[in-house]
Amino acid sequence: MTADEQKKQVGDAAAEYVKDGMKVGLGTGSTAAWFVKALAEKVKAGMKLTLVSTSIQTTQLAESLGLVIKDINDVGVLDLCVDGADEVGPGLALIKGGGAALLREKLIWEQAKSCIVIADAAKNVPLLGKFPLPIEVEPFAWKGTVNRISDVLVDFDINMMPKVRMKGESHWITDGGNLIFDVACGAIHEPAGLAHELKSLTGVVDHGLFLDLADIALIGGEDGVTVLHP
Ligand code: A5P
Repeated sequence: MTADEQKKQVGDAAAEYVKDGMKVGLGTGSTAAWFVKALAEKVKAGMKLTLVSTSIQTTQLAESLGLVIKDINDVGVLDLCVDGADEVGPGLALIKGGGAALLREKLIWEQAKSCIVIADAAKNVPLLGKFPLPIEVEPFAWKGTVNRISDVLVDFDINMMPKVRMKGESHWITDGGNLIFDVACGAIHEPAGLAHELKSLTGVVDHGLFLDLADIALIGGEDGVTVLHP
């Protein structure tokens, strides 16, 4: 089974957790897109849902499928959020943000009673850090912020410079107007400590470590979907 087939498998499986009348957050990325497509089928068949989105990209996909996306501020607490990840580690600690939507994703995840992460088998890892950790940075005075990020990384034995994400010749700009820096950590042995220290830096808007947020992981694979809990 290809990675894309696994993504569809878990997107469809996650849609089975959605019940009529729920308020649901839609994640971003190629895996979450399968979930959005599965939900569109349910809505076409008559299911009533209130939906919010984690990115402009997902809003555009959802609307192209006939779904209505509400403003999160008009919706309040969500019943469920379903989203992909770049890595799923022990305790369902995650790296997210490969699609640069990490801030709005985290805002939606934190406003949901329950969060399901969906991923193909290759993303289920024993240790986080092979996938570069995205860090969202306020553009003003970004050089100073990156220097402070580097100092924190050294404290965690990560001797890699954050690399600004590009889109062609220009800096990648997030939906919220910020820069993304990716850090090829290699291995993150203390995700909670690193998350705390990065978040405490002025100029860091947020980072892609999602800790203690996922309630369930649905992992695709040859033998069907594996359900993991923290
Ligand atoms: C978006 O910013 C990310 O957090 C995505 O959820 C993550 O990169 C997974 O994307 P794919 O499902 O496309 O691999």
